[in-house]
Amino acid sequence: MSEKQPIISLKNVTVSYGALTVLEDISMEVPEGAFLAVIGPNGAGKTTLVRTILGLVKPVSGEVRVFGRPPAALGALRREIGYVPQMHAVDLRFPVRVGDVVMMGRYARLGLFRWPGKADHEAVKRALARVGLADLIHRPLGDLSGGQRQRVFLARALATEPRLLILDEPTAGVDSRASKSLYELLRDFQQEGMTVVIVSHDVGVVSQYVDGVACVNRHLVVHGRPEVVLTSDMLTEVYGCQAMFFHHGHAPHMVVRMNEEES
Ligand SMILES: Nc1ncnc2c1ncn2[C@@H]1O[C@H](COP(=O)(O)OP(=O)(O)OP(=O)(O)O)[C@@H](O)[C@H]1O
Ligand SMILES: [Mg+2]
Repeated sequence: MSEKQPIISLKNVTVSYGALTVLEDISMEVPEGAFLAVIGPNGAGKTTLVRTILGLVKPVSGEVRVFGRPPAALGALRREIGYVPQMHAVDLRFPVRVGDVVMMGRYARLGLFRWPGKADHEAVKRALARVGLADLIHRPLGDLSGGQRQRVFLARALATEPRLLILDEPTAGVDSRASKSLYELLRDFQQEGMTVVIVSHDVGVVSQYVDGVACVNRHLVVHGRPEVVLTSDMLTEVYGCQAMFFHHGHAPHMVVRMNEEES
């Protein structure tokens, strides 16, 4: 094996939906063990970037490598990726229990025609314990708060015991205390050797935890260490709006003044 290869690598990647080019000429590398935040305004192409890395969207040009392979050729390595999609509408009347949702994360390991065994049930319990929801394993998903539900989806991604964890805005609709503890948890995962990529809108907060920031707005504007990347000018370029940091307390707090009315 060669020296440490990046766990994710994109070279001159362009992605379009029909006539609409969403990502243009993106090149980036994520080293193994990194904790990277992907930031950018709504519609910037963050989810598209994640879906491209996962092989769910095929670029019109350029090269994507995950674990050194094209996403379509990952085979069994696919199980090494945990994915928490952007909050999807879950039909909360559907009587699914927390433990069942997390077990879905094991299907990649299980294959289609095997019943979950003891190891699978234990992995589910471990994943729920990791996110602090061990007690809720038998509860209907619909009874949980939004923040707890997000943690269930994180546990589902952890159930596969991934080397690479990708989360698309896991803190949307979650209060700041819960977001903070989620970021702390992700930092623990990183310290245990996992590579973590998180799409986030909490630019100021997430920057305290990650060791890299990629700013996406059709192009990859900057990719680097948070303290270097998160300058006002850069944010203006990425967000197309005025942004600034206020330092009060120990945490830099970012205020973004939108040009258009906030939704
Ligand atoms: N399946 C699709 N078909 C056509 N256009 C799409 C599709 N998915 C996304 N788009 C368009 O591509 C652009 C980028 O979308 P994407 O979801 O990647 O943005 P995002 O940065 O994740 O935004 P948000 O912050 O709102 O989640 C948007 O203009 C969106 O409307
Ligand atoms: Mg998105």
